[in-house]
Amino acid sequence: MKLFEKVTVGKLELANRMVMAPMTRSRAYGGLVSELTAEYYAQRAGAGLLITEGTQPSVIGQGYIQTPGLHSAEQVAAWRRVTDAVHGKDGRIFVQLMHAGRIGHPTLYPDGALPLAPSAIASGEQLYTAEGMLDHPVPREMTLEDITRTTEDFVSAARNAMEAGFDGVELHGANGYLIQQFLAGSSNRRTDAYGGSVENRIRFAVEVVQAVSDAIGPERVGIRISPGVRINGVVEDDAAEIYTALMRALAPYGLAYVHVLEMATRELTELVRAEWPGTLILNPHREPGPLTVEAASEALEEKLADAISFGALWLANPDLPERIKAGGPYNEARRETFYGGDHRGYTDYPTLTG
Ligand SMILES: Cc1cc2nc3c(=O)[nH]c(=O)nc-3n(C[C@H](O)[C@H](O)[C@H](O)COP(=O)(O)O)c2cc1C
Repeated sequence: MKLFEKVTVGKLELANRMVMAPMTRSRAYGGLVSELTAEYYAQRAGAGLLITEGTQPSVIGQGYIQTPGLHSAEQVAAWRRVTDAVHGKDGRIFVQLMHAGRIGHPTLYPDGALPLAPSAIASGEQLYTAEGMLDHPVPREMTLEDITRTTEDFVSAARNAMEAGFDGVELHGANGYLIQQFLAGSSNRRTDAYGGSVENRIRFAVEVVQAVSDAIGPERVGIRISPGVRINGVVEDDAAEIYTALMRALAPYGLAYVHVLEMATRELTELVRAEWPGTLILNPHREPGPLTVEAASEALEEKLADAISFGALWLANPDLPERIKAGGPYNEARRETFYGGDHRGYTDYPTLTG
């Protein structure tokens, strides 16, 4: 079965085509991952590739409580324990660099600053904080200096990722966070070179990709996108144009992969597949219900993707490849322990063998 075949990502040969999708777990107290984090990822090292939870490249990039960073020596040392544990089990691991942009909040930053975004437009949504649910504030519109500095923050976080032993980085260009806030007309009303036309709205994404690729090598860089997603207040009326232009602009770089988070329709995935010459990881849209081996491998058989990522299923099933091979059964994910807490709902999901 194709899911169990090897696949090339950058210069890596992955043992199989099953990828663990990035998932925030909000257990990085003080911005630091722990021994428990190392155990959690090592338990799942049977994935062809693990992609970590969203990790902020800078203080102002944080979007949720208790998420890890990759902008201090202490954070690099903490992540090193995770990559060592995963590599000790022959796993491969990329870190997802996630700048939340306007999906941040002054309570998350020591100086109480406003979050940054392409334009001063609030998401219209709320976030969970230590003080309960709060509205996302109207963010501060980024100056050109802010844009340059933010690109540099991505670069230094990517260098830190190399120092921490990661196999690569995934830039989070999906789900309405900073990079997608630049792509989407609803969150980007800039009148300079970063807003307006599609060419201008993709500029920030392309510049970040270019700068990070120059720093650590394009074969170690992937990007996650969610064409047409309506989440965190972003609306892309012209998704087909945006992602055609973005894929064409990124094609020459020779990146490790594009990771598509698929929405309800398949057309945009097909469009990305047609435009993207490299490896494509697909997080397929899936109707609720039990997973079958056939459904899991369908997109590979149809050549729509080269690898498939699984989120909640992997969270709840550390030995997912064995379970897929056996046709199940699967542990149910416990939603109440998704974010925050301790080992419960984190490292205590049983494997088939106990
Ligand atoms: C608990 C949880 C946390 C998530 N955090 C992230 C994240 O940090 N970055 C990201 O790109 N997607 C995140 N996602 C989205 C998943 O990567 C995935 O796209 C989504 O769960 C749909 O895939 P699935 O049906 O296989 O779970 C998260 C999902 C869950 C369930």
